[in-house]
Amino acid sequence: MDLQIRLRYLQDKLEEALTELQGSLDAYEAENRNDHDILSTLSLLQPQLDDGIRKLKEINDIDEQRFHIIKFLNTLLKVEYNKIFEYNYYADALENAALADKLRVFGAIEREHARILGEYIEKLGGEPRFNPPELHTRRTFTLEEMLQEHLRGEERAIVLLDEGLSIYNDGELQWVLGNIRKDELEHKRMLLQIISELENPAQTVRVAVAKWAADEHISDEDRPWVE
Ligand SMILES: [Fe+2]
Ligand SMILES: [Fe+2]
Repeated sequence: MDLQIRLRYLQDKLEEALTELQGSLDAYEAENRNDHDILSTLSLLQPQLDDGIRKLKEINDIDEQRFHIIKFLNTLLKVEYNKIFEYNYYADALENAALADKLRVFGAIEREHARILGEYIEKLGGEPRFNPPELHTRRTFTLEEMLQEHLRGEERAIVLLDEGLSIYNDGELQWVLGNIRKDELEHKRMLLQIISELENPAQTVRVAVAKWAADEHISDEDRPWVE
């Protein structure tokens, strides 16, 4: 990630911190607290944060559009990563080998999307942020529920892609997003078809305990997708 982008991220983070600080001050007042240590710490931080943000805004002579595209693509990348994990973990739990294979193919296409997005982010001077997948919390559900979860993942991506396509009119970006959207629409169509043809939708699926890094024993440093 280049310095310009990094500094712009820093500005965002400090603005978030300032909002948090204000929330803490509000809570302090609401709870009628009378604690000198807390109040002096918060009072000390506020002008420093204000000052830091003001100076960064002066320094940050950046193309805001480029910065927002990088942030948007990283959000999309996270959705893709969720789907890669879901398709593969859930496929491993299926008895129906033909269906499992189909889902793994979907997962492979999501992986390709993630690769394309990552490269595009780097091309813009950003850094692909492989955030930890946030889904994959369920261990037992019916076959239909599992497929509905895949469907929600696809729909989430389509909503985001539509949003990106309507906001950013750069030709190359439109092409990248449009191609991914085409795949997601096809996945959605196929999932709906698979769901409608299920012979035993209530069949129980038990997902094995996943050995992915979010679980335990692994430090953040060893997790490549952690910000
Ligand atoms: Fe995808
Ligand atoms: Fe997809």
